[in-house]
Amino acid sequence: MQETIDRLRSEGATRIAAITEVAAIEVTRVAILGRKGDLTLLLRGLKDVSPEDRPAMGAELNRLKVDLTELLSAKEKELRGALAEVPVDFDLTLPGVTASAVGTLHPLVSVLESISDIFYGMGFSRGDGPEVELDYYNFTALNFPDDHPARDIQDTFYVDKKVCLRTQTSPVQVRYMETTEPPFARIFPGRVYRNETADASHSSEFYQIEGLVVDTNISLADLKDTVDTFVQNFFGADEPTRFRPHYFPFTEPSVEVDMQCMVCHGDGCNVCGNTGWLEIMGAGMVHPNVFKAAGYPADKYTGFAFGMGIDRIAMLKYGIGDIRLLYENDLRFLQQFRGVL
Ligand code: PHE
Repeated sequence: MQETIDRLRSEGATRIAAITEVAAIEVTRVAILGRKGDLTLLLRGLKDVSPEDRPAMGAELNRLKVDLTELLSAKEKELRGALAEVPVDFDLTLPGVTASAVGTLHPLVSVLESISDIFYGMGFSRGDGPEVELDYYNFTALNFPDDHPARDIQDTFYVDKKVCLRTQTSPVQVRYMETTEPPFARIFPGRVYRNETADASHSSEFYQIEGLVVDTNISLADLKDTVDTFVQNFFGADEPTRFRPHYFPFTEPSVEVDMQCMVCHGDGCNVCGNTGWLEIMGAGMVHPNVFKAAGYPADKYTGFAFGMGIDRIAMLKYGIGDIRLLYENDLRFLQQFRGVL
């Protein structure tokens, strides 16, 4: 048995030294220390060793186990480099705090909190709504008739004919208005889903933040001022914004909001696809049919709504080139946000 132990000691060390990628560490660990691993089998064989030799052999095997485990950890540390130094207080599940205190959060959470802070400053309060939503709130109450082609662009995952994963945060508009009398200014951040094939700019899950302001005499000028205040505060830039006519079933008129590219200031660069402008949200004046679905009296109120992709804002702010990085939880990516947010 001593011979087998010696062989495993030297062969094990050689195998571990030859590992070149993190993924192979676990494979080797299982091959040596797993339930049917070489060392485990030897430990089981102890029962066949004579009672006099057993304690010494047992001690020798335990030492080997400790040594090989240490070699594996050292290898892992070497391959992961700085990653192994991630402090234990790096807790991705920490709840959001105010922007001034962030620093150890996922970039999406930090950006969401920074955006919220700016809206709090403008008098908005915050709420949320269900991710598993009735088709009624996600589409019908938002003025998408059953056979409307606008539903196609927002294909989603259906639980059954009447229940789906929400494609946008807009359904919360109707839910909130059903229970609240204006005036109010409210934001609703949250996760949304679409039937997308993942690529650098598409993900089947992403985050939006909805804004809804309703009162008497709210106009498009209020929307423009709110958007400008947000852009100046969030991007710390004096870049102008522009409204482009667009179509959403639940707003009329509808616009897409662009801000001038904060990298090239309008000259054109690869961040803005040489257009000089970056699209940051969809928005518009709340459609009378949406007020009607919420049970508000006709012609009493006016309001604006906007919907902004939080992922996109985070990507623009930090120059993140691939949306998938936000969902892979690769610590090498996440660690770069320590202290900068
Ligand atoms: N819900 C729209 C989208 O996901 C964005 C939007 C929100 C547009 C509110 C107008 C008003 O594309």
